[in-house]
Amino acid sequence: MTRRVLVCGGAGYIGSHMAKWLAAHGVEPVVLDNLSTGHREAVRFGPLVEADLLDPASLDAAFASGPFEAVMHFCARSLVGESVQQPLAYYENNVTGTLNLLQAMQRHGVDRIVFSSTAAVFGEPVSPQIDEDHPKTPINPYGASKLMVERVLADAAQAYGLRSVTLRYFNAAGASADGDIGEAHTPETHLIPNVLRAALGDGSRLRVFGDDWPTPDGTCVRDYIHVDDLAQAHWRALDYMQAHDGAHAFNLGNGRGFSVREVIAAAEAASGRPVPFDIAPRRAGDPAVLVAASDRARQVLGWAPRHTDLAAIIDSAWRWHCDPAF
Ligand code: UFG
Repeated sequence: MTRRVLVCGGAGYIGSHMAKWLAAHGVEPVVLDNLSTGHREAVRFGPLVEADLLDPASLDAAFASGPFEAVMHFCARSLVGESVQQPLAYYENNVTGTLNLLQAMQRHGVDRIVFSSTAAVFGEPVSPQIDEDHPKTPINPYGASKLMVERVLADAAQAYGLRSVTLRYFNAAGASADGDIGEAHTPETHLIPNVLRAALGDGSRLRVFGDDWPTPDGTCVRDYIHVDDLAQAHWRALDYMQAHDGAHAFNLGNGRGFSVREVIAAAEAASGRPVPFDIAPRRAGDPAVLVAASDRARQVLGWAPRHTDLAAIIDSAWRWHCDPAF
């Protein structure tokens, strides 16, 4: 029988890389997306069902293309700053939308989900590296909305036997090696795409949000993790749920932090071009340093990230930005 996974948000950046991974491993990815931020052109590896998490009837229609062995849930509004401005939209989309999805799963007899969560559930770090036991005190509605769903998944495991793996991404980056899909947000707020656009000479200058942070060079430090390594973790989570019930959560990062200035230098090396930039005020909601401890994902899931070198991550993104397909 065909193995099939419902990839919610599969027209987006991380979801489309997941769909590609599944198709390459013999599993049909059925993409559910409302195309609000995703791209029709990114749905290349399986069918697209246009549906909206806030419209339960459309979810029933999507589940009719099953049976699905699991759901992977990448649909979310995910900008920290915007979540502070529009908290109700974030709670509606990320919490209510996920409740609708979980109820649709129940109606259609699907009892496994891999859920995309975020480093933002931890809030201000209290240790140099963030492991799963770090206190979870989100400082913005985006992080709070994801943490609420984590709690829902734990309760649903107890009450209904729902199996789940929550994966908390640090800074997703990079693009598919063959350049057919990549990161394309409008507006673009993420560091690496903005650095590469400035390198391309599109007239933009990068704004570096603060050079007076308590870090070695004064700019913020982040843990960049390649999007295909995130896909690999989801794949292993699928396997893990075959043998394990309950709700489980893992942090995903490389465990090494790079500053904004180091990212600029790496992009200049990858592109062979200068990155024009200005120092701007700090951005609200940014912690100085966010670095993951991902030992648990390595030990328990057998996750082994392959694209750990910042230069290689940026090189893959540069190839996409030079010739984006959408
Ligand atoms: N930055 C700039 N200029 C830009 C864009 C970003 O200087 O044009 C800086 C930011 O201030 C930050 C770093 O580059 O220090 C990375 O910023 P991104 O916007 O690329 O990513 P974030 O670190 O804000 O986002 C990550 C995760 C989110 C999570 C958030 C929690 O992607 O899921 O951390 O703070 F919510």
